[in-house]
Amino acid sequence: MRIALPTVGQRRDVPVLALFLVTSVVVALVAGFGLGWWLILYQSFGVPMPAGGWLVLVQVHGHLQLMGFAGLLVMGIGYRLMPRFRGSPEPERRLVLASYLCVTIGVALRVAQLAQPSDARTALLLLSGALEVAGSAIYATTTMRTLALGDNAHRADELLMAGGAVWLPIAAMWSLVSLQPLFGGASLASLDADAAAVAAFLIGTVGGHILGVSVRLNSGFIAAKLVPDNVLVGATALWMVGTFLVVLQIGGGAPLLLAAAIALFTSVGIFGRSRAARPLPEHAQVTMFAWRAAYIWLVIGLALLTVDAMVGGAPSFVVAGRHALAIGFLGSMAYGVGARLLPTLTGGPALPVGAVRWAVILTNLAAALRAFVELVGPATTPAAVALALSGPVGLAGLLVFAAAAVRTVRPALHTFA
Ligand code: HEM
Repeated sequence: MRIALPTVGQRRDVPVLALFLVTSVVVALVAGFGLGWWLILYQSFGVPMPAGGWLVLVQVHGHLQLMGFAGLLVMGIGYRLMPRFRGSPEPERRLVLASYLCVTIGVALRVAQLAQPSDARTALLLLSGALEVAGSAIYATTTMRTLALGDNAHRADELLMAGGAVWLPIAAMWSLVSLQPLFGGASLASLDADAAAVAAFLIGTVGGHILGVSVRLNSGFIAAKLVPDNVLVGATALWMVGTFLVVLQIGGGAPLLLAAAIALFTSVGIFGRSRAARPLPEHAQVTMFAWRAAYIWLVIGLALLTVDAMVGGAPSFVVAGRHALAIGFLGSMAYGVGARLLPTLTGGPALPVGAVRWAVILTNLAAALRAFVELVGPATTPAAVALALSGPVGLAGLLVFAAAAVRTVRPALHTFA
């Protein structure tokens, strides 16, 4: 699929896109990779941590990474990309900005979980959860409307994108429900409701969007063959039912997700001989590398979650599986696809191929250090060092990509200066 360069009207919305992307990166730098690194240094070397703070900080890290970093990234790109796919009108700017403000303020207020129990903390957390639900609901309804409208013929991959959009407010609602113990003075959110929110975010929202968009773009971006509609519809059904079961912690969800991932992995046409008549140009080779890495981490992540579902009580498999998906799958695809989408969505210059390649290499190294060493645990010094390195390596990947992206987006913003 070829995506046309932005029209004058679409250029008008580049600052709004930049707002989502910049906020997403700032959250990831501070509360995501930064806090994640502190958590891992405590786990590996026992660096000081506020009393009783470990699990509270883990919950805040996880939520800010999912709703802040991943959520705002998916919303920003979704608002720009879906109207292009559908040939439908752009969403109303005031609705887009309202959802941005609700989610961003909600995410910022979630830090109140670190404070001592008080009526003020309860009010701030209630507001945080309610704003995230409101912002997510605006995104989901606007996106469903965009996908329903438009002059272009509907495609099966829109089911995955629609599913991804619908899981966002569901995840935000589970996150709000998880805060209930905090309203009663506890310091930890409900572990079950928190786990449901994490699953709905990571698998439902992030998984649905990335799989839907990558399937749509793979033929244009890397000359891969189109996924047959029957495979797509089947994989989408497995994905949505699997997500539903994992969110409700009913057995059988993870194996269904793994089956859907393997169906897409084998039919997405990125392993084995390319369809391209000539060797892919360098930037497309980097996209192909990112695509392949993302799909491999998708299968690894879901296989780890399936092992936990089968044998039960394997927390390190859950943590490793989540980070294989969050760093390997999400990171590789965000940098690989983002590097091709940003110039198209903003009209700015292409990202330097070398920077994109290094961002993908670093995020894959961070995913391997985070997921695989988590399975063996930081018992030995080499393992503790390797686990601790996952934080700065992941951070370096994000910084390399963000610096290259600024170079592309900034000229598009100058037109507004
Ligand atoms: C290399 C960077 C990262 C490091 C060092 C890191 C570190 C950690 C640590 C130490 C934990 C606690 C694990 C446990 O319970 O034993 C954790 C949990 C978690 N992390 Fe990360 N993380 C990183 C990146 C990410 C990313 C990119 C995401 C999502 C986009 C993410 C989402 C989560 C979630 C959802 C949890 C579970 C939170 C909960 O139980 O509520 N992490 N992370």
